[in-house]
Amino acid sequence: MKYASLLLIAFSFLVFFSCKKESTNPTVTPLAFVKPAHFPAPNYSFVGNEVTQDKFDLGKQLFYDPILSLDNTVSCAKCHDQAHAFSDHNIKFSNGVGGTLGQRNSPALSNLAWYPNFMWDGGINHIEVFSVGPITNQLEMKETIANVVAKLNASTNYKNKFKKAYNIDVITDQYMLKALAQFMGMLVSSDSKYDRVYTGKTTFTASEENGYTLFKTNCVSCHLEPLTTDFSFRNNGIDEQFTDLGRGHITQNASDNGKFRVPNLRNIAITYPYMHDGRFFTLAQVIDHYSNGIKQSATIDPIFQNTTGFNFSPTEKLDLIAFLKTLTDNTYLANPLYQK
Ligand code: HEC
Ligand code: HEC
Repeated sequence: MKYASLLLIAFSFLVFFSCKKESTNPTVTPLAFVKPAHFPAPNYSFVGNEVTQDKFDLGKQLFYDPILSLDNTVSCAKCHDQAHAFSDHNIKFSNGVGGTLGQRNSPALSNLAWYPNFMWDGGINHIEVFSVGPITNQLEMKETIANVVAKLNASTNYKNKFKKAYNIDVITDQYMLKALAQFMGMLVSSDSKYDRVYTGKTTFTASEENGYTLFKTNCVSCHLEPLTTDFSFRNNGIDEQFTDLGRGHITQNASDNGKFRVPNLRNIAITYPYMHDGRFFTLAQVIDHYSNGIKQSATIDPIFQNTTGFNFSPTEKLDLIAFLKTLTDNTYLANPLYQK
């Protein structure tokens, strides 16, 4: 009896001290890229740019810093706002340096580590070179890479952070691009209601369920689950004549004219307006397009050949919209990890 209580006291001490040790010195889980179990293998696995808190924080600082633009007024985040799933606020085209208007709608950003290429036309094919695009684009940040690198090297704050993250004394374009890639690659949206249903944690309402069935019948051949895109280039019948050649602009092949990369639909309810030129402001307009607004042209997708659309009933349209709304991922939109 005595022996047992002594043991108990000893045990309580152990528990007390181990708890105490933990509370004064919490084991910090190191930052890591976590592939959601229901996602396929990513395209970018951070080889040579292994995830660390310092690199990620540096990439985030760059993403939010207008220093990357010619007159230090435009940051990446200006056109890619977390509250809107990193798309722009409610406008067709974004303003770059000096207010110049862009020519395509700023896409929402998520799950970029899975992208084989970037832009509506797939014109950039690696996440670690990606940022050269917006930084040097005359309608966006209008800056030169050499100048950005010079500005960063003139900043003690950045010099210290690059030293800590990558152990380099002189900042180069390569490491600036790596840091940005680290932030972009870590943007993972996988906790929408859709994901929770997909992984068996909850269930859809009857309307959402019906919308999901319609989606699987009519949309997943392009908007492949669970990423909601197969990353192919398709003409979904929005135009008879093309003002923007899309993929054709990159390949210079007429058979690609009017084709755009199938967009990721995650968080779609809050990333309006829609399509590469932001022509539709509501999901209802998008669904009307697929229901009976398809226009024929030389490169129309075989799925839409000789048809004006899927002819959805009014209820089916509402159900599809109800389903699309389940792709909103509030965990992602409010994730403090991504905040400035
Ligand atoms: C002036 C607004 C603006 C700024 C600033 C801007 N972007 Fe963008 N971003 C866009 C637009 C518009 C597109 C689509 C361009 C296209 O497809 O031709 C885009 C495309 C992208 C894409 C490709 C997404 C996809 O679906 O393929 C990524 C990633 C991205 N931007 C990240 C960034 C980063 C990182 C920065 C800062 C270095 C940045 N953007 C600065 C407007 C902007
Ligand atoms: C043949 C392939 C294909 C099919 C089938 C298809 N889509 Fe699309 N979808 C696309 C392409 C390509 C775009 C981008 C077109 C553009 O911007 O020019 C797009 C754009 C969208 C957008 C706008 C996304 C954004 O970020 O602006 C939504 C929403 C959408 N599709 C939903 C659907 C739904 C719902 C269905 C089924 C009823 C469907 N799609 C069927 C290829 C397809």
